Amino acid sequence: MGLTVLSALSLFVLNITFLCGHAQDAELSLKPNVSHLFAGESVTFICDMREGNATDWLYKFNWNDQEMVQFNKSSSYSLYLTAELSGNYQCIGRHNGLKDFTKQSNNLTLSISALRPTATITADKTTIPVGGSVTLTCSVQGSAGWTYDWFRQIPDSREVVIDTNSLQNFISVSDEGIYRCRGRRGNPVFFTNLSKVYHSQKTLSNRAFVTLQQNWTQIFSGEMITIKCEIQGGENTEWQYEWRTTSSKTPPTHSEYNISRASFSYSGQYWCKGRRDLYFSTAWSDAFTLKVSNKPRPTITADRRTIPAGGNATLSCSVGSYNEWKYFWFRRASVFTEIQVIRNKEPDQMITVTQGGIYYCKGGRGNPVFFTEDSDPITIEKRGEIKSFYLD
Ligand SMILES: *[C@@H]1O[C@H](CO)[C@@H](O)[C@H](O)[C@H]1NC(C)=O
Ligand SMILES: *[C@@H]1O[C@H](CO)[C@@H](O)[C@H](O)[C@H]1NC(C)=O
Ligand SMILES: *[C@@H]1O[C@H](CO)[C@@H](O)[C@H](O)[C@H]1NC(C)=O
Ligand SMILES: *[C@@H]1O[C@H](CO)[C@@H](O)[C@H](O)[C@H]1NC(C)=O
Ligand SMILES: *[C@@H]1O[C@H](CO)[C@@H](O)[C@H](O)[C@H]1NC(C)=O
Ligand SMILES: *[C@@H]1O[C@H](CO)[C@@H](O)[C@H](O)[C@H]1NC(C)=O
Ligand SMILES: *[C@@H]1O[C@H](CO)[C@@H](O)[C@H](O)[C@H]1NC(C)=O
Ligand SMILES: *[C@@H]1O[C@H](CO)[C@@H](O)[C@H](O)[C@H]1NC(C)=O
Repeated sequence: MGLTVLSALSLFVLNITFLCGHAQDAELSLKPNVSHLFAGESVTFICDMREGNATDWLYKFNWNDQEMVQFNKSSSYSLYLTAELSGNYQCIGRHNGLKDFTKQSNNLTLSISALRPTATITADKTTIPVGGSVTLTCSVQGSAGWTYDWFRQIPDSREVVIDTNSLQNFISVSDEGIYRCRGRRGNPVFFTNLSKVYHSQKTLSNRAFVTLQQNWTQIFSGEMITIKCEIQGGENTEWQYEWRTTSSKTPPTHSEYNISRASFSYSGQYWCKGRRDLYFSTAWSDAFTLKVSNKPRPTITADRRTIPAGGNATLSCSVGSYNEWKYFWFRRASVFTEIQVIRNKEPDQMITVTQGGIYYCKGGRGNPVFFTEDSDPITIEKRGEIKSFYLD
């Protein structure tokens, strides 16, 4: 009798607080506390009435408004997930003593993917710098709450675990090797697929340089040149060479790039590096700029245009201020006569002539010799000879 009155009173009080909104709502939570899940994971629903003693209540779990677990003393419920189990979850508590008093929890909406996810590995740099490291990051797209496992493999060796169940999703790596990772969560533990491998490479301290074998910097269309990749202190290593260029050409994987006829399309910047093996290479060299210009035409000048009797004139030829040029001289007695090579054994920038005639020159350099265009002709008269013979 007394108990009934008390119960009715309690029910009345509870009903008042509930109707007036003072009673706290029941709370349904999930372990792991995430809403995007995968088939194969195990989760636990926890129902908290947030009122009285947990043992005062019976708990029911619904899935899409269907009863999944009938009223029961257990306030938690574990479930192995399949993709079909996506949807709305809710728990309902019924007071053990007060049969008509129930509370509903919030709804939890779970989306469950059928496919096991794959971890993604990324690196902040492509290679490990000299004395430095690379930071690798592992992530599982669209989902949280993971811890991470890290693996490394070195040549001719088994893959080893380098870190496991780590809360940090990144590691710092200063050794070469093949790395991969995966995520895990839940109890029993669920693993993502392993990430792709990240192939970490170490930078050697040897420096690479792109050089031009020729001693000159200005290159002309038609010239034969060789661009070289040189590696400082790397004489005893069998290197593989890699090139990068802004030109439209593809240099070979050799240290030497022979260009038999330079043209404008070879103009651009060139970089190279040496690779010792899969894991070790030099850093890229500084850029070398190749600029191919039009074939030049030398300038010809004379100290006088008329040779006095018994005298001479000095002619000079110039391509520019570069001293690698040799000069070749030609003469015709008149426009009607054959061209005569007057100087090619000891090619010189200046010659002294005592005869009248039409003179021109050209420059040459390198081996085989690359020739400039012909200079303009210049006419030298000799006093006493008939002027009309000549070109001007
Ligand atoms: C679950 O996560 C949400 C935010 O993602 C947070 O507000 C909430 O407190 C978490 N619950 C628990 C039980 O950790
Ligand atoms: C809840 O009830 C149980 C058994 O009835 C008791 O052992 C426990 O101390 C109670 N807890 C609280 C917080 O009242
Ligand atoms: C209550 O739940 C427990 C564990 O979830 C289970 O073993 C038990 O059979 C359930 N009882 C009823 C009556 O459903
Ligand atoms: C939960 O969802 C059900 C329908 O599935 C709805 O009737 C109920 O009002 C919802 N409850 C809350 C607290 O949103
Ligand atoms: C993960 O691996 C399984 C096989 O183990 C494969 O069927 C599935 O497609 C993979 N998931 C992704 C996202 O590639
Ligand atoms: C470059 O110049 C050096 C001396 O300055 C010389 O020994 C070498 O033969 C030259 N190379 C070419 C390709 O002309
Ligand atoms: C480039 O030319 C040089 C000399 O002309 C020759 O020794 C070398 O083998 C050539 N290199 C390549 C890659 O063709
Ligand atoms: C050129 O003429 C000058 C005088 O004008 C003379 O001193 C010089 O020796 C001559 N040179 C040659 C190579 O004939």
